[in-house]
Amino acid sequence: MKVSLTGLTKTGTKADLFVAGFLKGEKDLKALKKIDPAFAKAAEAAISKKRFEGKTGETFSSYQAGYRQAPEMLLFGLGEEKSLKAASLRKAVGTLVGLANGRKAVKVRVLLDSFLSEAVSAEEAVKIFTEISFLASYKFTPYKTKRKDDPPKAPGSVELVTEKKELVSTLRSLMARSEKIARTVLFARDLNNEPGNVMNPPRLASEAKKLAAEKKLECKIFGLAELKKLGMNGILAVNRGSVTPPALIIMEYGKEHKAQGTICLVGKGVTFDTGGISIKPAKGMEEMKYDKSGAIAVIATMGLVADLKLPLHIVGLVPSVENNVAADPQRPGDIIRMYNGKTVEVMNTDAEGRLILADALSYCEEFKPAAIMDMATLTGLCHHTFGDKACGILGTNPKLIEAIREAGENVGERCWQLPLWEEYGECIKSHHADLQNTGDGYAGTITAAMFLKEFVPEKTPWVHLDIAGTANCSANRFDCPKGATGFGVRLLAEALSHWNPENISKK
Ligand code: BES
Ligand code: MN
Ligand code: ZN
Repeated sequence: MKVSLTGLTKTGTKADLFVAGFLKGEKDLKALKKIDPAFAKAAEAAISKKRFEGKTGETFSSYQAGYRQAPEMLLFGLGEEKSLKAASLRKAVGTLVGLANGRKAVKVRVLLDSFLSEAVSAEEAVKIFTEISFLASYKFTPYKTKRKDDPPKAPGSVELVTEKKELVSTLRSLMARSEKIARTVLFARDLNNEPGNVMNPPRLASEAKKLAAEKKLECKIFGLAELKKLGMNGILAVNRGSVTPPALIIMEYGKEHKAQGTICLVGKGVTFDTGGISIKPAKGMEEMKYDKSGAIAVIATMGLVADLKLPLHIVGLVPSVENNVAADPQRPGDIIRMYNGKTVEVMNTDAEGRLILADALSYCEEFKPAAIMDMATLTGLCHHTFGDKACGILGTNPKLIEAIREAGENVGERCWQLPLWEEYGECIKSHHADLQNTGDGYAGTITAAMFLKEFVPEKTPWVHLDIAGTANCSANRFDCPKGATGFGVRLLAEALSHWNPENISKK
């Protein structure tokens, strides 16, 4: 995919499809006339006959070999001016990519200026067009046997044209940034769509190593021996059920910016979650290959922060295991002593995410972080609560929570807060140990986070993002085919790009 921007007059060659946005009730066809009077004529006829009114998602297309820009003109309805916001533009662009694909239009030209509104500036619009063009045209194909008659990728390029020539260079640099972010999301999707028989902990570690070498990050991997030596018994206990060794992946960027305070990103890397002895039902279990989504969001983001050259010191920590029932699995009732010394009674081996995250969170202490953010497909209940429309956000620092919530709002990766009231702490107390790894059957997303909180280094601002619902989608969506969404990359990129040490002042 190629997304570019040019001034209106420079568009010499013909595209396959020319697209203009149309607000409801819009009468002004001046811009269209300038581009090609024949376009304006066709549009005028359709509008006067009420064939096309500009309602949201409405389309009108006209095909004529003689058109200047492309043989086909497509008018796309954007609804009322006041309802055209970032979210609706994202959807419009995703839909357009689908329409172009259906038409086998490889080269698509878009009149950028026709997609703006009070709420959507040219700056915002180019970001959205760039991001969504990449995201919506994504496909995961490594396991599809190639055929000679496979059609070329459509759209293969999206060329934005504008009359605002004075803005072109500013807009182009915004687009370059958006492209880096979008490509990172696709990278995350690629890794995450890989199945459990391929993307196991050692493979995930080698992907992290490869990325680190490319982006000049530091990267170290703790394997079985090191984890034993460190006493990371949360990670080890979960891993007992797997013949594949576990890993704790640690990536580091921007040591020279340490003075601003270190940020730790922690991601749950369960490469497949069978549930262990507390085994999951068969139906839908294949989706548990996405239980590594948090890990992959963190790994991919580490590469991105290097690309974006953010002036921050960031450490990514990814505990990775397969939660399986082979080898010598842990049993319900087992008691383990975690890396930070607390004991945990394992009531349910399917609550494995919190066990591996706990050790990684405690290990963050080594970096004396100013803040910790973790991302995990932690509870099925969070999926039930928010669907795929928002992730749960819980934490100990209101300012940090607000900053991340706002970042999510800006990029269309929503976070919604749930409380961490002390009273919930009662539910994770164990009869025989300090803690148990399940709650009392209620408020599961909250009690899971309460458990994690027990392992966060004291007084360190911390937020937890439960991405169980947003990490993958179970049907095609305008911005993503069924499968991994890459959720979290844009959110973290936005939050880190606007990082304000004030937000992490220790309350
Ligand atoms: N990986 C799952 C959570 C999950 C479920 C993510 C469905 C996405 C979709 C996690 O390890 C898990 O199994 N959690 C249990 C916790 C319970 C045993 C306390 C759950 O949510 O049922
Ligand atoms: Mn589980
Ligand atoms: Zn899990």
